[in-house]
Amino acid sequence: MQQYRITLLPGDGIGPEIMAVAVDVLKAVASQFNLEFVFQSALIGGAAIDAVGEPLPQETLATCQNSEAVLLAAIGGPKWDTLPRHLRPETGLLGLRAGLQLFANLRPAKILPQLIDASSLKPEVVSGVDLMVVRELTGGIYFGQPRGIFATETGEKRGVNTMAYSESEIERIGRVAFETARKRGGKLCSVDKANVLEVSQLWRDRLNQLSSEYADVELTHLYVDNAAMQLVRAPRQFDTIVTGNLFGDILSDIAAMLTGSIGMLPSASLGSAAPGLFEPVHGSAPDIAGQDKANPLAMVLSAAMMLRYALNQPVAADRIEQAVLQVLDQGDRTPDIMSPGMNPLGCQGMGEALLQALSRAA
Ligand code: IPM
Ligand code: MG
Repeated sequence: MQQYRITLLPGDGIGPEIMAVAVDVLKAVASQFNLEFVFQSALIGGAAIDAVGEPLPQETLATCQNSEAVLLAAIGGPKWDTLPRHLRPETGLLGLRAGLQLFANLRPAKILPQLIDASSLKPEVVSGVDLMVVRELTGGIYFGQPRGIFATETGEKRGVNTMAYSESEIERIGRVAFETARKRGGKLCSVDKANVLEVSQLWRDRLNQLSSEYADVELTHLYVDNAAMQLVRAPRQFDTIVTGNLFGDILSDIAAMLTGSIGMLPSASLGSAAPGLFEPVHGSAPDIAGQDKANPLAMVLSAAMMLRYALNQPVAADRIEQAVLQVLDQGDRTPDIMSPGMNPLGCQGMGEALLQALSRAA
């Protein structure tokens, strides 16, 4: 029997409830595909701050490093927002990405016909959207030095962050992006701000050089402001998008919302070696935490991405994705994707519906 060590990081807010659903779903597919998951839970974010006084305990990083893959639900909440930066939940997440060297973040956004009415854009605009944002995750302005809030000579404070990319950082994310595009529609759009920023000029030059090695992929470039506009104007033009950390943060939220609910979208963060990190694109939604209202589908689809990308179990991943489509087909909806005439369910109810769909598929 194939055995996998999986680190679970439930985190904060709705994290624990959606993680519970994903774990049940994974256990169900494990028995169907003769796999064995050894789950180990660890602390991150606000939960870790409350328990041990820091957002990313060394023990958590070690547990993650000692596993085949990491499943993360969500971190953060108002309770910890006023803490100094080094003690904030977000710092734990950024530390985990850096600590595991997860430089490539894959964020797919695919519109499901069942949810087309949940999109805030017109159905004819979003119908058929199927794109992938490849976001650089361990560099750029999120990590560049110098950074800080410094006093100037006049005593005024000045906040500083630095957007920097070295050629090797651009090359390794570029390769992931070209290879991702090659397996998809063969079109790669690189997004930058090369009309203003030197760091973007280097980004663009390096991608152009790389493209000679990927003759089967069509490379285009857009400035980030135009890309944001094109994503809401004519999103079907995109297949694979590659961009830096900050632009990717913003564009992936826009891309997510095209599909109607950010509660539907999974993501994978990968480095050159295992373990990868799999997490929903959405946050911890503290406003609905503990009320059985959260949509667990992005979390469950993240578990499917883990099976596909980290554990090389594509058939089991397909099985989970099919179960998600099936519950949507039968009209099951959490509040975020509810529309008239559909069957309202809470987080747990959605989990049960998934388990039933899975048992029918076995
Ligand atoms: C994301 C989030 C994070 C980011 C935050 C929580 C640090 O917005 O994963 O997109 O900015 O990367
Ligand atoms: Mg974000």
